[in-house]
Amino acid sequence: MDKKEILEILKAPWQESAPLTSRILAEHKGAHVHVRGIIEFSNICKRNCLYCGLRAQNRQLARYCLTQEEILAVAQTAVASGVDTIVLQSGEGSAQAAWLAEVVREISRFLPVTLSVGEASEQDYSLWAKAGARRYLIKHETADPALYRKLHPGHDLGERLRALRTLRELGYEIGSGFMIGLPGQSLDSLAEDILLLEDMHIDMAGAGPFIPQAQTPLSHCDKGSAELCLRVIAAMRVALPWANLPATTALATIDPENGQKNGLLAGANVLMPSFTPLGHAGNYKIYDSKNRISVKDAARAIEGAGRKHALQC
Ligand code: 5AD
Ligand code: SF4
Repeated sequence: MDKKEILEILKAPWQESAPLTSRILAEHKGAHVHVRGIIEFSNICKRNCLYCGLRAQNRQLARYCLTQEEILAVAQTAVASGVDTIVLQSGEGSAQAAWLAEVVREISRFLPVTLSVGEASEQDYSLWAKAGARRYLIKHETADPALYRKLHPGHDLGERLRALRTLRELGYEIGSGFMIGLPGQSLDSLAEDILLLEDMHIDMAGAGPFIPQAQTPLSHCDKGSAELCLRVIAAMRVALPWANLPATTALATIDPENGQKNGLLAGANVLMPSFTPLGHAGNYKIYDSKNRISVKDAARAIEGAGRKHALQC
């Protein structure tokens, strides 16, 4: 797709694109919705992304890291409920590489493991791949290099794209994505986000609305819109027919009633219910009022969208 075609989809109500995206979905991905069980095992982070409540400078957040035993116990619950993958997510630099490799090795005996733990050294990526990790999610967040620098003090977009390429060379399936409605972001910039994913032939892409978090420098900014998020999902489905596209938790946060179902109807084919223990989930505060999607919520959304799953609930 060229930029003009992407912009046309971004300017039209998402329902207008739904007949096209459901045809593409049926042809390339079928009716099955992949369900990834996400375990947010630590909210410790060494970075200071301007938009995120887990930023190191947020001293008001109670930090936690689950033990290996706790992670394995929740992973067992996720396996029993019929998810197809486990996603281990944390802030950046929160886990010691060898410690995480042990967790990956254990869980990989039952299910494929996806890591989402930020940028690390090539050596660590490689250690985790040898332990059995198959996929790695690390979003580019915005394809606008100037905006990227503003939002990520001391970092640049090139470094993020190099991380994605390194991960692919090491044999990972790679997932990227971006936020919608960031302060200073234009529609043109969102089209660039989608072109970047296409250019990199990304395997998975998650795009969700920006939601302000009270303890961050962007606390006063407006949140992104659900409608624009659904248009972006539609455009990604047309531009990246091969890709696995989640309906994000951020979308389910700004539209708890219909976000997940509409995400699937717009072109998504992945949901990510949370298995983070309830006592800690409230502290995984990347943005305010974060929704917690249960397996039941996921099943309901999939059935509501007329699609299929293998969940036990
Ligand atoms: N609003 C929406 N999404 C956010 N993320 C982080 N902070 C926010 C926010 N305020 C997303 C980013 C990141 C993932 C962990 O959560 O895209 O990759
Ligand atoms: Fe840390 Fe990720 Fe939040 Fe940035 S977005 S502060 S790297 S958890």
